[in-house]
Amino acid sequence: MKFNTIYKGDCIEILNKDIEKNLIDLIFADPPYNLSGNALKWVGNKTGGDWNMVNENWDKIPDAEYLKFTKNWIGNCYNVLKKSGSIWVASSYHNIAEIIITLKRFNFKINNIITWYKTNAMPNMTKRVFTHSTEFVIWAVKGSGWTFNYETAKEINPEKQKNGEIKQMRDLWEIPLVQGKERIRGEDGKALHPTQKPEEMLKRIILICSKEGDIVLDPFLGSGTTAIIAQRFGRKWIGIEKEKKYVKIAEKRLCIKK
Ligand SMILES: C[S@@+](CC[C@H](N)C(=O)[O-])C[C@H]1O[C@@H](n2cnc3c(N)ncnc32)[C@H](O)[C@@H]1O
Repeated sequence: MKFNTIYKGDCIEILNKDIEKNLIDLIFADPPYNLSGNALKWVGNKTGGDWNMVNENWDKIPDAEYLKFTKNWIGNCYNVLKKSGSIWVASSYHNIAEIIITLKRFNFKINNIITWYKTNAMPNMTKRVFTHSTEFVIWAVKGSGWTFNYETAKEINPEKQKNGEIKQMRDLWEIPLVQGKERIRGEDGKALHPTQKPEEMLKRIILICSKEGDIVLDPFLGSGTTAIIAQRFGRKWIGIEKEKKYVKIAEKRLCIKK
């Protein structure tokens, strides 16, 4: 077993063959949401620059297969997690049903569903429904004895009590979509990964639900956000990603020389 490494390939196969069972302390998974379908865009948007909807081949799975795919990767995550381990799964209204049904099917206990309020959410272009400005991050545990660093959660909570004192963290997180210096861009200025998650989100999850030296695994590593934050806070990490172009981006971000 290699740590601080990106495994290249399909996470279902790699979880099954290459990762030791009952080993991992914390999993963060940001799977395909299956929301791609058309290339909606809003070029020249005056309030925040051009918007492009996610439209990727890896994010297009026929509906009937999506539940099977979800069962396969969550089942394999279950096997590699320690009994006291936690899994966090990012989702939106597109796929939250499949994720919850599957977590229950494997007897995971759902501890919280965090609502991520994207303060700079993309405007709705159809003008026929409300603007979608939230996603969900589901925290579930395999058994008892999970890590929840309660004091850390209070200390890093940006919300304070009226008198300025630290406060319990709620299940509503206000975090902007990644922009500015944090967004990984190519020389042409275009974002290199369409769904890069905010470092602030991973910081909260990793600091609150793991200890220093723990092993954090991300089966859908993308641009490498989970690995960056795990490394920054002294956790070991394992990333899995099937697209070569994203593996390269993550390796560059992590300063892994090839
Ligand atoms: C939603 S993105 C993750 C983004 C990531 N959280 C970040 O901050 O950059 C999902 C990623 O999973 C990858 N992927 C999709 N299916 C996969 C599979 N079966 N095995 C491994 N990676 C997969 C995609 O190439 C994509 O980069």
